[in-house]
Parts: sequence; C-alpha cells; structure tokens
Amino acid sequence: PGLAVYDPGFTNTASTRSAVTYIDGEKGILEYRGYPIEQLAESSTYLEVAYLLIHGELPTKEQHDQWVHDITFHTFVHENLKSQLQGFRYDAHPMGMLLSSVGALSTFYPEARNIKDPQIRHEQIVRMIAKMPTLGAWSFRHAQGKPYIYPDNDLSYTENFLSMLFRMSEPKYDPDPRLAKALEVLFILHADHEQNASTNAVRSVGSSQVDPYSAVTAGIAALYGPLHGGANEAVLKMLKRIKTKENVPAFIEGVKNGEERLMGFGHRVYKNYDPRATIIKKACDDVFEVTGVNPLLEVAQELEKIALEDEYFVKRKLYPNVDFYSGLIYEALQFPPEMFTVLFAIPRTSGWLAQWLELVDDPEQKIARPKQIYTGDRKLDFVPASERW
Ligand code: CMC
Repeated sequence: PGLAVYDPGFTNTASTRSAVTYIDGEKGILEYRGYPIEQLAESSTYLEVAYLLIHGELPTKEQHDQWVHDITFHTFVHENLKSQLQGFRYDAHPMGMLLSSVGALSTFYPEARNIKDPQIRHEQIVRMIAKMPTLGAWSFRHAQGKPYIYPDNDLSYTENFLSMLFRMSEPKYDPDPRLAKALEVLFILHADHEQNASTNAVRSVGSSQVDPYSAVTAGIAALYGPLHGGANEAVLKMLKRIKTKENVPAFIEGVKNGEERLMGFGHRVYKNYDPRATIIKKACDDVFEVTGVNPLLEVAQELEKIALEDEYFVKRKLYPNVDFYSGLIYEALQFPPEMFTVLFAIPRTSGWLAQWLELVDDPEQKIARPKQIYTGDRKLDFVPASERW
C-alpha cells in the first residue's frame, strides 16, 4: 500500500492472467489457445477460430454447425440503427461510424447489462460477432453514397461481408473464392493478440462491469489510433507518398533522422519478424493473382530490404509487423484506406470478447484502477476570481 511503480505504457506490468493467446516476441511465436497461428491460418476458418477463442477449445461438428448457424442468423441489425448510420456526414470516417453504432447496440439489448448470466453473455457474443460485418460494410457503403445491402445468409462469413460491401444490382453476389479465402486468412490473423492497447481498453472498461457492447466500443476507439489499428492505413498513405522504389533511400534517411516513423515496422512485443507478417506476405501473392500486382508492392519490398539491413532498424529490432503488407491486400481488394482499420476491428471482436469473458469470469478481477506518480502542486491557497482578475 502506498507504493507505486512507475511503468509508462505498462511495458513491464502484467494486468491480468490469461489463457487466450500466447506470444513469444523474441522467437516470433503466436498461438491462440495453444494452436500455432500458421496452422490455423492454413487450415481453419475465421468462425472456427472465433469459437476456439471464446470457448477455449475446438468445436465438435455439432458445436461448430450450431455456432455458425447462430452467427449467420444474427447478421441483421435493427432498422433504427440503419437510420443512425444514415445520419452521419457523407465523409464520416467508417471507424467513427462503427464505434458509435456498436455503442448504440447496447441500447437495443438492455439485458446485456446482466453480465452475470452466462446465457445472456453468450447471446451478446453471438450478436456482436454476427453484426460487425454488417455495420462495417454499411459504413463503407455510406461513404460511397450507395444503398446499404442486407446480409445474405446463404453465404459464408467473409463471402457475406464481400457481398454487403460490393454487391450492385445483381440478384446474388458471387465472390471470387480466392478473395474470400484471403480475407478469411486476414481475419484469422487479426482475431486476437493478447494484451494490446485495444484489448487492454476492453478489459479496463469491462472491469467496471459495463455491458459488452460498451466495453468493445472502447476497444474500437483504441484501435482507431494510428499507432495501433490505424497503422495499416498510415502504411498505405506512406507508400503512396514515397511513390517509387528510387525514393526509398531518401525516405529511410528521413526516418533515421527522426522526421517520421516507418509505419508498419516495429512492435512492442515482437523483437523478431512478426509471424503474421510472414503469412500476409504469402496471402499477397494469392490476392495479386486475381487482382493483378499492386505497383506499391515494389516500394514496400524495397523499404523492407533496406530497413532489414540498416543498423538503425537492426539495433532497435524493428521488423515488419502485421500492418506492413495488409494494406496492400486491402487496396487490391478495392478498399479505401479509411476501411483498413474496420477490417481489423471486425475479426478482433472475437478476441476482445474472449478476453472480456475471461475477465468477467475471473474471481480475482478488480476494477482497473492504476496508480499514478503525482507531479503537480500541493496545498495552494485559492484566491477568488474577483481578487485575481
Ligand atoms: N520507425 C522508426 N523508428 C521506430 C519505429 C518505426 N516504426 N518504431 C520504433 N522506433 C524507434 C523509436 O524511435 C525508438 O528509438 P530510440 O530508442 O532511438 O528513441 C525505438 O525504436 C523504440 O521505440 P518505442 O516507441 O519505444 O517502441 P514501442 O514498443 O513503444 O512502440 C510501436 C511500438 C508499434 C508503437 C512502434 O514500433 C511504432 O510506432 N511503429 C509504427 C506504427 C505501427 O506500425 N504500428 C502497428 C503496430 S502492430 C499492429 C497492432 O498491434 O496494432
């Protein structure tokens, strides 16, 4: 009592015990519930991974089918929420729209405040995982001035998302299975990442025992920032600014002189190659086979090549992270940069909810209330305004 350890950014403070995700940053290992990310990305689906994260183990066939059925039939959102989205300005950032609409969901399901009831908790988890693609896609359509497309429950999770994003007048959207698969891989890679800033926000806000929609809204807000989920948007803007391979050395010099950061490089935990970046790099090839190569790939590869050999980056253990190549894929899939963070938030919802569930089930959990080191004045005598002015 009375003793506070100063640890800005919590670099050395474990805020929780968790059995959801394991990371070894030195060795570049990432596992969900003990399963290596490489195997999940290769052979699983996003919804199966979401089940694994939430329930702690892989589903039986019956459990899987029930889970997919439940999520598929909660993809619609209340019409009034549609009106809320329509009230946004034409140029509203889709992350701003997403975070406010997920916050608004809590008012449609007031029973969600009863977080002690496991059945009620489960229903909100299903609803949120189901509705995120709908809200994300509608935020995207809004910016384009296009009508919102209702979910097509005959399609898979990622196919339905593509349909709500891109369907025009055709009666049925027929997504390219290679693109749906690439999106599935990206969703798996983004599903959880232990105590990152947004998960910490979900846990911190969730520790007040608020409903899960409000807790996840805090996570979306944290993810919106450029040092977290916003980095992939920043990477693409940076690549566009650099424009050609020839401009890379001068750009790198600017980074080394402290003018700006090389976005998509560096990680608080990974001090070796981010394993997700390796998988995404491969997914790039699959997507570019369908869409044609993004010319900015050349700029990204040159940046990586120079940075990996440069002492500045080597000494600080700065390697490409998950965001370095994902933006190139998203652009090839015809997403505008403002949508990139939404594409992160949708799959991260299952991770946030797995962590939230762990938090509310943990008997040792207390309300998050960090200490501070006070640096302000003390015991000043207040002088009324009439005497000061
Ligand atoms: N470019 C240039 N220098 C960098 C970079 C970078 N991207 N990242 C870190 N450094 C330098 C930094 O200037 C510092 O140098 P010095 O010791 O001389 O002051 C040193 O490396 C350590 O940096 P730090 O800011 O103390 O490291 P951190 O662990 O607090 O930050 C980070 C991690 C991800 C915020 C940071 O590496 C960064 O800003 N990267 C760029 C943004 C980015 O790509 N973010 C996505 C993160 S991965 C996706 C996610 O989980 O959201």
